[in-house]
Amino acid sequence: MEELEVNIIQAETLEALEKVRLELFGKKGVLAVEFAKMKDVPGPEKKAFAEGLNTTKNFLQESFDARYELLKSEAIDAMLKSEAIDVSLYGGLAQKGALHPVMQTMDKIIDYFVALNFAVQSGPMVEDDFHNFEALNLPKNHPARDMQDTFYFKDGGLLRTHTSPVQIRTMMQTKPPIRMIAPGTVFRRDYDITHTPMFHQVEGLVVDDKGKVSFANLKSILTDFLQYMFGEVEVRFRPSFFPFTEPSAEVDISCIFCQGNGCRVCSHTGWLEVLGCGIVDPNVFKAVGYEEVSGYAFGLGVERFAMLMHKIPDLRSLFEGDIRLLEQFR
Ligand code: PHE
Repeated sequence: MEELEVNIIQAETLEALEKVRLELFGKKGVLAVEFAKMKDVPGPEKKAFAEGLNTTKNFLQESFDARYELLKSEAIDAMLKSEAIDVSLYGGLAQKGALHPVMQTMDKIIDYFVALNFAVQSGPMVEDDFHNFEALNLPKNHPARDMQDTFYFKDGGLLRTHTSPVQIRTMMQTKPPIRMIAPGTVFRRDYDITHTPMFHQVEGLVVDDKGKVSFANLKSILTDFLQYMFGEVEVRFRPSFFPFTEPSAEVDISCIFCQGNGCRVCSHTGWLEVLGCGIVDPNVFKAVGYEEVSGYAFGLGVERFAMLMHKIPDLRSLFEGDIRLLEQFR
């Protein structure tokens, strides 16, 4: 019966081997038939008969197992080979997308302040009168509200006109000291070459014990920041007004188009206005319940930065999705 091993050894595939398995070891297989003959073997010979049969069976089983392992590993090798990917194969150049120039600018601004340990905060775009105006020292009927043409909802809610409400929310949720920026989307009823109804701001706020935060701190950090953004520009602080800061300043950089000589972009002044800032008005601290603190705040328009950095003449073109413009920022 050992010659049956030939069937095992000659099985070339797992399927063929399975067929052999059924023929040999199956319920009606060769071995089963042989074992069935036991009952006809005379008593004294039964033992020897059974032993012989078992030896044969074990021999065939071992041979089968070895063959099975071999065919199985061959099958796996074949599968791996057929599924292999040639990673060195040239696949053509994929078209890559890119961050929108406004977001690239936003990221660059955020990177600067994060490196100086400012936390990044956010708040809702749909705000209420308290956070957007009232707490920022802009009571109802205050003339400065006209500076910010507001989109209102019927229920009295509004689309935030600046990122300053995030200052208020952060101060009401945490204790001083505070060192934060709030990048975000803001909305105003405006549409022309330098205004869109939706744009982005980055707000900054530092609050610490009374006397610890000064205008000098504000001046030095913003000067350094603007030179990081625009290179070797001159920076000047001009007295201005914001309801939530006192004193307030608007900050100009020397015109990057004409190096301060005067051109159309800077209206022949040699200067470009880029942000607003000031020392936090005591009324704002009162509104959020802070006592014995001092602070500074600043706010800037990200689109304006992007336009200046990339010399983009019309703000609206940033939002038209024209692929010819966007492709230049890949
Ligand atoms: N919130 C002001 C604006 O939108 C900018 C600003 C922020 C000015 C903080 C001063 C301090 O115009």
